[in-house]
Amino acid sequence: MKAMIYTEYGSPDALQLKEVATPQPGQGEVLVKVHATGLNAADRYKLSGAPFIVRLIGDGLRQPKHPILGADVAGVVEAAGRGVTRFRPGDAVYGDLSGSGWGGLAEYVAAPEHVWALKLAGISFEQAAAVPMAAVTALQGLRDKGQIRAGQRVLVYGASGGVGTFAVQIAKALGAEVTAVCSSRNVEMARALGADYVLDYTRENFAQNGRRYDLVLAVNGYRPIGDYQRVLAPDGVYVMVGGTMKQIFQALLLGPLLSRRGRVAAVTARPNSGDLAAVGELLQAGQVRPVIDRCYPLAETAEAFRYLGREHARGKVIITV
Ligand SMILES: NC(=O)c1ccc[n+]([C@@H]2O[C@H](COP(=O)([O-])OP(=O)(O)OC[C@H]3O[C@@H](n4cnc5c(N)ncnc54)[C@H](OP(=O)(O)O)[C@@H]3O)[C@@H](O)[C@H]2O)c1
Repeated sequence: MKAMIYTEYGSPDALQLKEVATPQPGQGEVLVKVHATGLNAADRYKLSGAPFIVRLIGDGLRQPKHPILGADVAGVVEAAGRGVTRFRPGDAVYGDLSGSGWGGLAEYVAAPEHVWALKLAGISFEQAAAVPMAAVTALQGLRDKGQIRAGQRVLVYGASGGVGTFAVQIAKALGAEVTAVCSSRNVEMARALGADYVLDYTRENFAQNGRRYDLVLAVNGYRPIGDYQRVLAPDGVYVMVGGTMKQIFQALLLGPLLSRRGRVAAVTARPNSGDLAAVGELLQAGQVRPVIDRCYPLAETAEAFRYLGREHARGKVIITV
């Protein structure tokens, strides 16, 4: 089969389209013919091997442990290994393989049964591949770390990217009043996703307009932690999804100290079939729709990584296989 592989950490130039052996489904595994794979910031970190901590927590120190990237996969079941009970050849499925070997940037991938869910009818493979990691991260940030409740005022900073477009919609679906922060060109999109208020960060500093929020979901760390905390209402919570290494260490190690100005929590999203099913229900109900910026063919994966690396993707970047 064809696969996009990398054998050394580096820039997108390190990616090579190669012919490799097609995986076989082991006991309890499902072999899927890949139709589409969604890229995430985590793919970028694994490709570059930076920040260095990614090598310590799951990748090889000197060489990548998973030569085929791609966690968010949508495709059709080609074969089921012994012991598989929930899927049959021909089933359309999607899932997050980041906890089970990655490998989505290829024509076929095998992964344990539990990571897969049936793709909803009416949702394309590209849309399905956009969902798992970004939407589940948004859900876990808002619901588990943020303990979001209906009627709360929620600020989503970084509302127009992969995680943010899901966060705005999920927060609305959970009954919150949502303020989205993004750049000028994405203001209309954020409104269309359901945001009640949209702040254009190129024109307005959200930390200086006097408004307060019960929950701040900081999808990225372009502002100092103090800014996100400054806008918290009493008993408010600041949830960090992404940030600089300094901010991540601050949140993890100094959380209790920083919490004097409002509770601080950091998300470490985990693939979770129950949460993927919860997102699936929101998709089914039409309360959430994936936003896809661009699709690239497998052979142009390096270009897709370069685009994602500019950090202005509008929703998700997808590889079609
Ligand atoms: N904790 C976890 O488990 C977890 C899981 C998934 C992702 N993450 C992290 O979440 C972060 C975002 O992921 P993503 O997939 O949403 O990334 P992304 O799609 O690349 O998001 C980029 C977004 O950042 C915004 N942006 C760029 N420059 C900005 C600036 N100066 N100020 C404010 N916003 C700016 C852009 O909006 P405009 O174009 O409108 O400027 C764009 O929409 C990453 O850091 C990733 O590592 C963490």
